[in-house]
Amino acid sequence: MTAVPVTEDAVPPAGNPLVVLENVNKHFGALHVLQDIDLTIGRGEVVVVIGPSGSGKSTLCRAINRLEAIDSGRIAIDGKPLPAEGRELARLRADVGMVFQSFNLFAHKTVLQNVTLGQIRVRKSEKNAAEQRARDLLDRVGVGSQADKYPAQLSGGQQQRVAIARALAMNPKVMLFDEPTSALDPEMINEVLEVMRQLAQEGMTMVVVTHEMGFARSAANRVVFMADGRIVEQATPEQFFSNPRSDRAKDFLSKILHH
Ligand SMILES: Nc1ncnc2c1ncn2[C@@H]1O[C@H](COP(=O)(O)OP(=O)(O)OP(=O)(O)O)[C@@H](O)[C@H]1O
Ligand SMILES: [Mg+2]
Repeated sequence: MTAVPVTEDAVPPAGNPLVVLENVNKHFGALHVLQDIDLTIGRGEVVVVIGPSGSGKSTLCRAINRLEAIDSGRIAIDGKPLPAEGRELARLRADVGMVFQSFNLFAHKTVLQNVTLGQIRVRKSEKNAAEQRARDLLDRVGVGSQADKYPAQLSGGQQQRVAIARALAMNPKVMLFDEPTSALDPEMINEVLEVMRQLAQEGMTMVVVTHEMGFARSAANRVVFMADGRIVEQATPEQFFSNPRSDRAKDFLSKILHH
């Protein structure tokens, strides 16, 4: 492959974009859930997405991973448009790690098997190499000693950390988190947020839908506020939390910060 020469002019204004959404629209029947979404996420950037229930945050994440097809617009990951289907899609999807509210681990497989499966099937890794990588990642998220257990034998916080390790095992370019701590008991929330903070510090590009405003303040480079399928406001966490501009954001913040 020959390298494409990069001129000054070719460098996009946002710096070094990894995920680019342009004019993305999506309907569920009559409901216009994503409306003219333009969003560029830079390499190594941590973007926290917040907004009222039903505003389209999960749909946005699912669209980036193409778990949800869009009606119009463009989504590109690392310069490549998201393919509609097939082998290319599987490959591109593997570049996007996703962690959901419910951990979605395979119940009948051990923790180790959960973390090796995708590496072997999609990334075509050797079993030994996959297991080594899985053990390293499980250690990194603090559940190395649980490798031979089944998911049901772990706490919610441990299961979620396994889910993070499983996503990381694919060596993704970007990680999407959709309310990763909202199904957890309070005492387990921090252990998961801590793993995410560490990932952010290591330079992982992350999109995080969360109600954890402490995490947003301490780990996000940017807060994206959605309401009614639109991005209403984007700002640094300091700007957003101390001086939200839109009435929708002011209203939302007054509800979540004072309850
Ligand atoms: N598969 C679907 N079919 C029909 N409508 C859907 C579907 N998925 C989501 N919706 C609707 O689309 C809108 C946006 O949903 P979405 O799950 O993206 O919101 P959200 O911001 O993630 O909300 P929450 O904070 O409650 O998770 C909601 O009105 C929801 O009811
Ligand atoms: Mg959601």
